[in-house]
Amino acid sequence: MIPKNLTNRTAIITGAAQGIGKAIAIRLAEAGARVAIADLNLEKARETAREIGIDALALPLDVANAERVQNTVDECLNTWGRIDILVNNAGIVGRDVLVKDLTEGDWDQVLDINLKGTFLCSRAVIAPMLNQKKGAIVSVASIAGKEGNPSMAPYSVSKAGIICFTKVLAKEHLEDNIRVNCISPALIETPLLADVEPEQLDYMTSKIPLGRLGQPEEVAAVVHFLASDDASFVTGQCYDVSGGRATY
Ligand SMILES: NC(=O)c1ccc[n+]([C@@H]2O[C@H](COP(=O)([O-])OP(=O)(O)OC[C@H]3O[C@@H](n4cnc5c(N)ncnc54)[C@H](O)[C@@H]3O)[C@@H](O)[C@H]2O)c1
Repeated sequence: MIPKNLTNRTAIITGAAQGIGKAIAIRLAEAGARVAIADLNLEKARETAREIGIDALALPLDVANAERVQNTVDECLNTWGRIDILVNNAGIVGRDVLVKDLTEGDWDQVLDINLKGTFLCSRAVIAPMLNQKKGAIVSVASIAGKEGNPSMAPYSVSKAGIICFTKVLAKEHLEDNIRVNCISPALIETPLLADVEPEQLDYMTSKIPLGRLGQPEEVAAVVHFLASDDASFVTGQCYDVSGGRATY
């Protein structure tokens, strides 16, 4: 049974048209929240919103674009009057390439979406959360951000940046009743893995002590906890959803 502890709460989930973000949106909606599926792929976001039901919003969003981020937050505020939860989930893996062959374009693309996007979306919700004197931000980092995966430098660095950004933002708002946390999943079965080379997939799965890929719903359950008042004494943390992979 999913606890209905998000009734009357509102949540923006970035990159929620598919994969982990979609599972998070479904989970938070099942817990009673009104959710915004904010994604680059508006058509797919609409499909997901329809699946969730009448209260779900589908909004076009490029998290790397400050103006569009502000528009999305404004639209949610106009519709709901408040934003209780932000889940920074949108992310890309980028090209599988060694640092010696990495281009500036490869680097900028991944850092802009994964790390700058997390900054821009978090910054945009702080003002309404301060007005409400309440808020929860959960960002999706990755085990790659703790360990540093070979041939995935921009991705690993962007996720390490999210873990550090989480600690900074949490410390800046300790007295404002705004909690900021992140999670670091290991390999989760989603469309994102379609672009990962089979050898890289095998290598990453072999590092998971539970011996299998995780499911998006298993990630969503941890995000739900961190977004809810059940986690009222938890801030500035990185929770692993990694099948036992991380040792710290
Ligand atoms: N799948 C895994 O194994 C895994 C492991 C660790 C962390 N993660 C992280 O989880 C998050 C979700 O991953 P997923 O596997 O569901 O990926 P996915 O590719 O299935 O979904 C990502 C979603 O983000 C959207 N998106 C991409 N760029 C965007 C942008 N600029 N603005 C807004 N939306 C954008 C896409 O349209 C898509 O709907 C990512 O941050 C990823 O790094 C995934």
